[in-house]
Amino acid sequence: MGITRTLDVNEVLARQESGELKRRLRARDLVGFGVGIIIGTGIFTLAGVEAKTHAGPAVTLSFVIGAVVAGLAALCYAELASSVPTAGSAYTYAFATLGEVFAWIIGWDLLLEFALGAAVVSRGWSGYLANLLGLPQEWFGEEATVNVGAVAIIAVLTVVAVLGIRESARVTNVLVLVKVAVCVLIIAVGVFFIKGANLTPFIPPAQPDESGASVLHQPVVQAGLGLEQSVYGIGGVLSAAAIVFFAYTGFEALANLGEETRNPRKDLRIGILGALGVCALLYLAVSLVLTGMVPFTDIDTSAPLAAAFDAVGQHWVSALISLGAVTGLTSVMMVELVTIGRIGFAMGRDGLLPKPIGTTHPRWGTPHRMTIGGAVLIALLAAFVPITELSDMVSIGALSAMVIVAIAVPVLRHKRPDLKRPFMVPLSPALPVIAALACLYLMLNLDVLTWIRFAVWLAIGLVIYFAYGRRHSRLAVKE
Ligand code: ALA
Repeated sequence: MGITRTLDVNEVLARQESGELKRRLRARDLVGFGVGIIIGTGIFTLAGVEAKTHAGPAVTLSFVIGAVVAGLAALCYAELASSVPTAGSAYTYAFATLGEVFAWIIGWDLLLEFALGAAVVSRGWSGYLANLLGLPQEWFGEEATVNVGAVAIIAVLTVVAVLGIRESARVTNVLVLVKVAVCVLIIAVGVFFIKGANLTPFIPPAQPDESGASVLHQPVVQAGLGLEQSVYGIGGVLSAAAIVFFAYTGFEALANLGEETRNPRKDLRIGILGALGVCALLYLAVSLVLTGMVPFTDIDTSAPLAAAFDAVGQHWVSALISLGAVTGLTSVMMVELVTIGRIGFAMGRDGLLPKPIGTTHPRWGTPHRMTIGGAVLIALLAAFVPITELSDMVSIGALSAMVIVAIAVPVLRHKRPDLKRPFMVPLSPALPVIAALACLYLMLNLDVLTWIRFAVWLAIGLVIYFAYGRRHSRLAVKE
């Protein structure tokens, strides 16, 4: 059937030299892109929501669990990205190891992750901007029929993304400085308002879930095992870990920039592990400060951090937090648009998407067709669909790609022991297997509805593959 045909790694490496994408990024740009896409709604909103509804002060522990799982996956990404630098990242690794149909599924899944991520974030952005500038909610808020703010920001960022990777890096770097400064400010000021009483007991005792949520909104592990629905306790910490994992997603985007990095063999791993490390430290400190400042039952779920500072009379910090959220979310969308362009480009180059998508703009050297096409889709979603609750789809998309990437590490070592590997995951295959299982376990802590939506998305993807990609694939044409 040919659906498990694989891409030759030498060919992937040779494409590197084609110079179609421009090599303009240094390690520090990669760390900037990484922090740019990682810090966003996850810490600004979800941390507070999850502390209140699932984990209490132990949401910090949920962030620790998230950091460990993300860290394991990042090691696997770092090995593959530095030995096979390519614009397709996980999609291409799967193509070189497991076969075409797996590659397509992962590519399809990553497009979902980043497109939905950008749509979710653009609506959040619009809301924060409206709060900051007093703009009308009927155009910028979650109840807007057509969310004008979300569409406008996507349009502006698309122009930057099409104009060039260096331009995108510059814009991102500036935005990242503001957002990191705001996180540091939250920690530096907030630490003086921590009350020990708010942090005890650190893990609130488990209680029956009385929110009346239907089984569709229960984590698969609980629903599947027929356990009694509960919140808080260790179970709550784990559910929260799966949901706040969203806060770590995005570092994988860096693995798509291998063909645009000056020295990919060294800089990609610095970018991936460096960006994740910086964000994890900031997250742990911010979530501890937040739950230390406010009793978890009183946390405001729409703007948890800003409200916490208002509550202690530090209104200036709260204003700066809104500014930080607006700039922070802007860079998340910027990098997501850049990433969608690269993944689609790689899939078009292999013939799984129409060929013209797999070419770059003659002057700007960016995959402009995919970037613009992706942006139109994102803008449509963001304009009309209230998608805040879909952030879990981003997490399940990211986690499933991580499972495949982790498996690809030992498979590629077995298939191509000779490949130059500037960075190697220690203790393979044990560590990659643990990474894959850990990602899978977090996926099982997401709710039933997320799994159903994810399955539907993958089914649509398979239909498209069998109707188009399987026949038009470059490998099929060659055969
Ligand atoms: N990690 C990104 C965020 O938290 C997607 O917004």
